[in-house]
Amino acid sequence: MAAAHSFLPHSSSSYLNPLKTPPNSLPSKPFLFFKPSPKPFNLRAVLSEKASSLPPQQQQLKHCFSKSQDGFLYCEGVKVQDVLDSTEKRPFYLYSKPQITRNFQAYFDALEGLPSIIGYAIKANNNLKILEHLRGLGSGAVLVSGNELKLALRAGFDPQRCILNGNGKLLEDLVLAVEEGVFVNVDSEFDLENIVTAAKIVGKKVRILLRINPDVDPQVHPYVATGNKNSKFGIRNEKLQWFLDNVKSYSNMLNLVGVHCHLGSTITKVDIFRDAAVLMVNYIDEIRAQGFNIEFLNIGGGLGIDYHHTGAVLPTPMDLINTVRELVISRNLNLIIEPGRSLIANTCCLVNRVTWC
Ligand SMILES: Cc1ncc(COP(=O)(O)O)c(C=O)c1O
Repeated sequence: MAAAHSFLPHSSSSYLNPLKTPPNSLPSKPFLFFKPSPKPFNLRAVLSEKASSLPPQQQQLKHCFSKSQDGFLYCEGVKVQDVLDSTEKRPFYLYSKPQITRNFQAYFDALEGLPSIIGYAIKANNNLKILEHLRGLGSGAVLVSGNELKLALRAGFDPQRCILNGNGKLLEDLVLAVEEGVFVNVDSEFDLENIVTAAKIVGKKVRILLRINPDVDPQVHPYVATGNKNSKFGIRNEKLQWFLDNVKSYSNMLNLVGVHCHLGSTITKVDIFRDAAVLMVNYIDEIRAQGFNIEFLNIGGGLGIDYHHTGAVLPTPMDLINTVRELVISRNLNLIIEPGRSLIANTCCLVNRVTWC
């Protein structure tokens, strides 16, 4: 059974750079029902009158859901039961738009002063309204398929701020990526071959980043660890020269602008990001020494989340960025980060009614 989507929206979704303080005045109507979108985006919005009045720093750490003394669950001060009662169909996912904003803002604030792109990893949740909201906040998008790219375009993302990842990209998806001018990460020998073919078909040069496997243990579950040597993702460092030689020989089709690594997901120790960044800037030095104009360091996905609701104090985006800030500045780089779950996971709950017990 598919669930619908309801939102507790922020007062305004658009505050592009410079993004400092989100506007906090709320429209006068307490409940706002959006016209349902055509399937599969059956959306409904419910607007909280009581958006948080906490200062931004505290807001970053605040969870939008709380259990009140009356025993009911509240989201941004709105009783979830009231939303359920005012909603025709269930189950539905209830999202807090202010929480999405706060999550994005935490990365945005951490990156202040650094030329950067926050690319939301669409795989974390590809709801169109969420994509549009994040795009309105200034987010780019990280994609793993042609369909995700189409979705990102439909949500209005700037293709120049989109990155296509994946170790099995299809030629047709690469063709679309080249046409739209998104960054493409090179993951393997055959991936490079396909990217060159796509560039030839479109007749356009493509901006690429080499996804290097830095062989750093992310200390996470093996199923989400992708940055150690035995993982199927990324280029092994001993193969790097082969890739550089090939990129050189296709310099009319390929423009190597950066390097990428993604160690894995659910990382909760920020030193791990720094260890990888140290290795990556060394690769950048080597690659630049061969005449390539490397402008971007992409450090992959964002922080882990409190999956088990233990109340564990997790590092913030500021903690993460602080571990790599000086390295990025020292090499005059643009930083790309690709958070997924840390932007969206704590913003939503599934609401349903028990029908029989
Ligand atoms: C290449 C890449 N970037 C970004 C992400 C998003 O990671 P996270 O949800 O941990 O931020 C993933 C997750 O699988 C990924 O594989």
